[in-house]
Formats: sequence, structure tokens, C-alpha cells
Amino acid sequence: MSPFRITRTLPEDATGAALRADVLHGLTGDPRTLPPKWFYDAHGSELFEKITRLPEYYPTRAEREILSARAGEIAAAAGARTLVELGSGSSEKTRLLLGALTELHTYIPVDVSESALRQAGRALTAERPGLDVHALIADFTGRLTLPDAPGPRLVAFLGGTIGNLLPGERAAFLASVHALLAPGDGLLLGTDLVKDEQVLVRAYDDEAGVTAAFNKNVLTVINRELGADFDPAAFEHVALWDAEREWIEMRLRSRTAQTVKVPALDLAVDFAAGEELRTEVSAKFRGEGVRAELAAAGLELSRWWTDAEGRFALSLSIVRR
Ligand code: SAH
Ligand code: AVI
Repeated sequence: MSPFRITRTLPEDATGAALRADVLHGLTGDPRTLPPKWFYDAHGSELFEKITRLPEYYPTRAEREILSARAGEIAAAAGARTLVELGSGSSEKTRLLLGALTELHTYIPVDVSESALRQAGRALTAERPGLDVHALIADFTGRLTLPDAPGPRLVAFLGGTIGNLLPGERAAFLASVHALLAPGDGLLLGTDLVKDEQVLVRAYDDEAGVTAAFNKNVLTVINRELGADFDPAAFEHVALWDAEREWIEMRLRSRTAQTVKVPALDLAVDFAAGEELRTEVSAKFRGEGVRAELAAAGLELSRWWTDAEGRFALSLSIVRR
């Protein structure tokens, strides 16, 4: 059996402190917001996996289609001995890359969800004897210190998760990824593309209500971790397309006037009937925009692939030697 290690880069109380700070800031701000990383406790990670199998949620299938067709080309261009994956979740699509990277020595999945990392790690070590898997429980928006591993390294950020960052956060994130890379290393970036509004909204407001449950899961996380008394049934799931900013916004709309208590913060939050709390943005991209955002972070887009329907793109940037 190949080795599997898991490292928590921040002590557990630091995660608790970050949640308290985000909830205090987000629930007292105008508009009210919460960062999407708090969706992903064990239940939230399971709900996300269910979302990836929904008929309406095309991004996972579209990205898998590109990886199936292009993994060989990506592997040849990157020649990586270490694959670092940010927001790796189940590492399900990653298997296509792992299979193509013939020189691969180490896989470093990075995620805030310990349960997702452990499950993926267990499966991968059984499937890939000889591969060194070193998982990091870490926030990819913070300063990342990677374990020693042989280069060249390929950093993969799949799923369109970059779209869950706000524009300023994206710029800071891409600059920090660039700072991690040495000459010859690369970044493989998945971006969901701008498309018909109905297709987009349906992907975030599915018939079966799985995305609604995923959205409300953040309230359950705050109830459990901070002793809050959110009633998820008292909030309605909302998904809308912001055509100007070209992003989907998920919100939770209060069905009635209500007060929610958050004892760990000594906080009482009044919601008016119809008042909304923004829980996620999911930005959609165009080729020129991706190229420009990479360039602003000092990265050059060298390859660009889409699925046959042009719904999703993968881009590859290799740092010049
Ligand atoms: N890459 C996978 C999973 C995408 S879901 C795919 O393409 O299917 C987004 C993943 O990013 C989740 O596993 C979530 O736990 C993780 N995540 C979200 N915000 C994060 C953050 N700030 N730092 C680290 N991981 C994060
Ligand atoms: C992880 N991320 C790219 C997903 C998305 O599509 O923005 C999260 C998600 N939110 C609702 N459905 C899926």
C-alpha cells in the first residue's frame, strides 16, 4: 500500500476563530454575506458530490469530458512529478490526470474538508500503490506552505472553484499561486464559461432541491459550531444571474421577520421578511477574461481547451524556465 499522510496546517481553534470572524462580519454587514467555504462540512461535501451528478449541473461532466480527451496533452506539457490540487474534494476527475502523468511521484490534495480528503486519500492509496499522497487540510486563500516534493509541479484548480472567489480575492489568489511556482511548474485552471441564463440558473436551482439543501447547510454548520438557532425551513433558496458581473449568486431569503441568535458571538440578528443573505457567487468567464486575470498575476495562458459544447474551459500556464 502506498503512503497516505494528512497534515492540518492550522490548529483546529484557528478554524473556529476564522468561522466566528466570518460570521460576525458577514451577518452584521450590509448586504449580509457568508463565505462559501463554510458549506463544506462532511454533509456539505456529500451534498456537493450529489450536485455533480444532477442532470442540471453540467460543469462536472463538461470538465470531465475535457480531461478525458486532453489528459495526455496536459501531462506531456506539464511533465509533472508532483500534482498539487487545490479544493480537491473527492479527487474524482483528478484520476484522469493521475493516470496520464506517467512520471508522477507525489499527489498533494488541499482542502478545508477533512472528511473529503480522508475518503479520497483512502481510495487513491488503494488504487495507486506507489503514489505518495500527502493531503493538506488548509484554506487555499491563505498562505500555503507545501511539503517538500520533487518538481516540476503542476497546481490544479478544477471545478470552476475559482469562480467562488470575488474579483479582488481571485487576483490575490492567482498572485499567491504564482509565488508558489518555480520555472517549469504549471497551473491547470478550470473555469465555467458564460452561457444562456436559463441553463446557468437551472444548474443552481435544480428540481430535486439538492442545491437548496447544500445552500442551507451553511446554516446548520453555524448552528452546530456557534450554537446559533437558524431554522433552515424559515429561509428560501435563491439562485439568480447577475448579467453585469457575469456571476450566479446564491442567496437565502428570510420567509418571515425573525431574529436569529448566535450565542458564541453574543449576537442577535434581525431579518426582515424577504431580506436576503448572500452565500456564494459563482463567476462565469470568457477566454479573454481568463487570459487577462492570469496575466495580471504574472502567468501566461499557454493552452486553452473547452468541451465540445463550449460550456467549460481548462487552461494551462507553464512558468518559463
Ligand atoms: N475540485 C472538485 C471539488 C469542487 S467543490 C471538483 O471539481 O469536483 C469545492 C471544493 O473546494 C470543496 O471540496 C471544498 O471543501 C473546497 N474549498 C472551498 N473553499 C476552500 C478554501 N478556501 N480552501 C480550501 N478548500 C476549499
Ligand atoms: C465548487 N463550485 C465550483 C461550485 C459552483 O458551481 O460554483 C459550488 C456550487 N454551488 C452550488 N452548486 C455548486
